[in-house]
Amino acid sequence: MLGVTIPGDESTLAKGERLNAPLRLGNLTLASRYCLSPLAGYTNMPFRVAVRELGGLGLATTELVSTRALLMGSAKTSEYIETCAADSPLAVQIYGSDAKEMCDAAQWLENYGAAAIDINMGCPVAKVVKNGGGSAMMCNIGATTALVRAVVEAVRIPVTVKMRLGWDDTNHTAPSLAREFEQAGVAAVTIHGRTREQGFSGKVNIDGIRAVVESVERMPIIGNGDVRSIADAERMFRETGCAAIGIGRGALLNPWIFAQLCSWATTGDVGFVPTYDQRLDFMTRHYYLLVEQRGERYASLVFRKCGGWYSRVLKPGREIHQKMMMLECLADFDAIVATLREKGPPPTWKAGELPEIAVPKGPISHW
Ligand SMILES: Cc1cc2nc3c(=O)[nH]c(=O)nc-3n(C[C@H](O)[C@H](O)[C@H](O)COP(=O)(O)O)c2cc1C
Repeated sequence: MLGVTIPGDESTLAKGERLNAPLRLGNLTLASRYCLSPLAGYTNMPFRVAVRELGGLGLATTELVSTRALLMGSAKTSEYIETCAADSPLAVQIYGSDAKEMCDAAQWLENYGAAAIDINMGCPVAKVVKNGGGSAMMCNIGATTALVRAVVEAVRIPVTVKMRLGWDDTNHTAPSLAREFEQAGVAAVTIHGRTREQGFSGKVNIDGIRAVVESVERMPIIGNGDVRSIADAERMFRETGCAAIGIGRGALLNPWIFAQLCSWATTGDVGFVPTYDQRLDFMTRHYYLLVEQRGERYASLVFRKCGGWYSRVLKPGREIHQKMMMLECLADFDAIVATLREKGPPPTWKAGELPEIAVPKGPISHW
């Protein structure tokens, strides 16, 4: 079925069993090779726990947190890193440009219980880049490698890096950086196969990811970008040789994707495909976990953002969509779900059929 080689392992994957072999990131062994990529505003603790309950998730990562804000005890940052026993293993993603702050923050997070530290080098947003963080770090190989090495040496837990291919198409620094990071002791690198200049436009550059895989000796590369189906994942493994896959927006559309990938790697079959009612159950679990975390007002405000994604899949019609986007309280949420259960899916709705992945709008600098 497959013909996938895993870096550091010369044999070819005949039937996918090897995809079920444990993946080690330093002292951390992952239960699967499928990781939830960070999506600021979406992949918070309630969403992560709800997804973990569906099975198959190897590693989740918080959204990016500023090392300075973390060390200053910012309330917002405490919220970003909030976790619980069911939310494990969890990597915390940090960004910044000051080596001392990055090391202090990594040590703080190690004591806090993070399973890994992920350094963000992919964020294209102006407020991150203008201070030398996020994808700006990809422009200076020497200084960035020194910073990464310092963080690796500051903690015992694995340190990973998430980056793009480079600043723009004339500057694919990811292969050189990955090679340096491997020497510096980084446990794995996630590559979103686009440049900073590209934002989220165009298609993910599979050859670009492959070039990174080929640049390292044994360090696992986690391929990322536009994976929303088994076929996309299979292509990512086969054409890049990556060791694992990171899924962000695809998991918002289909939180079962991790369990389905595990099923596929074992049996060659997707396994479970959720019905309309099961999708409503998941949405309810997600919302109620948000309520548990911080009450219904907070849950409703946070959920408004997710309402758009749920609407893309459930196709509830304009009126209910508007209600989801203006959600105020638990009673409103329950009423929406009750209406959807009663109405059932629209006539054209098919289990397993997913819309296109949405792209953040507007100029990169304003996201
Ligand atoms: C709304 C949104 C927020 C994101 N936030 C983060 C983030 O906090 N840290 C990060 O490394 N990447 C972030 N990303 C990038 C994703 O992790 C991922 O690399 C990208 O979306 C491509 O993968 P996908 O097609 O599976 O979503 C974000 C992307 C989106 C769309």
